[in-house]
Amino acid sequence: RKKMILDLDTGVDDALAIAYALATPDADLIGIAASYGNTLVDTAAENSLKLLELLGATDVPVYRGFSHSSTTDGFETMEISMDIHGKNGIGDVELAAAARPVETTPAVDFMIESAHAYQDNLIIVPTGPLTNLAAAMQKDPEIIDLIGNITLMGGALTVPGNVTPYTEANINQDPEAADYVYKHAKHLVMVGLDVTMQTLLTKKETQEWRDLGTEKGRVFADIFDYYIEAYDRLDIDKRGAALHDPLAVGVAVDPKLVTLLPINMMVTHEDGRTIGDPERALDPVKTDFAAVEVDTADYLDRFMNYTNQILG
Ligand code: BDR
Ligand code: CA
Repeated sequence: RKKMILDLDTGVDDALAIAYALATPDADLIGIAASYGNTLVDTAAENSLKLLELLGATDVPVYRGFSHSSTTDGFETMEISMDIHGKNGIGDVELAAAARPVETTPAVDFMIESAHAYQDNLIIVPTGPLTNLAAAMQKDPEIIDLIGNITLMGGALTVPGNVTPYTEANINQDPEAADYVYKHAKHLVMVGLDVTMQTLLTKKETQEWRDLGTEKGRVFADIFDYYIEAYDRLDIDKRGAALHDPLAVGVAVDPKLVTLLPINMMVTHEDGRTIGDPERALDPVKTDFAAVEVDTADYLDRFMNYTNQILG
């Protein structure tokens, strides 16, 4: 079985990435790294611990990552993020304090150790900024060839960004780190806005979770309803809210959910644009793959099956 590490800025849709990763039979979730973005790194770590506890996964460790990129303080877009994800990152839903602390090993070292231990069997799924992963690859370049698969939520190739017309939020946090990862990864799958904006969840589905009659069903419904209401209030999409981060988990274990375009990519440092890398455009060997189409019905079906299972 594949071993999976999530790197999250937990986050409403990051919370659902945890649920999907725990429920899928196709990989073991061996740890969660914490990042900044939707919220502060410490809040992200705490949210992950609390959600794991709620879902009965008290054996999955959580590691602290960087609190900002090397060029920003990480606060620039936090206000916008808090409008979408709530002041505490999880729709202002209050969860019981976690009984466990964050691990003392830093997230970067956990990634490095896991790459050596599991090699090709390791899948890393970042659904926040790429600061932690780039730092791990730079600290121990040997892991670049060891990590089997990096499937990330971020970027936009064929559609506009969601922070500016060119950049998506996760990439925008740390374009330089993203550029490093896109250019060096042995096998990178970009699950960007091209596909994630095609996967909307509505209050009809969150009602299904409520109807499970469990505490976790109600909590996840409350968290996601906040996000649906924010999408409506901020005019992002009136029909529902995007399941960005769990789609990256879904594609990580089963790439057949999407159509992959082989394209060696880079990220512009000035404006966080994910584009083809002219230096590697003619290289017949492709190391980057962009998801450009998604089987929405199949994904939503799997997503609801998994979440109903774990929330029930
Ligand atoms: C991405 O940014 C964050 O707000 C979400 O959690 C997702 O990872 C979407 O652009
Ligand atoms: Ca995220």
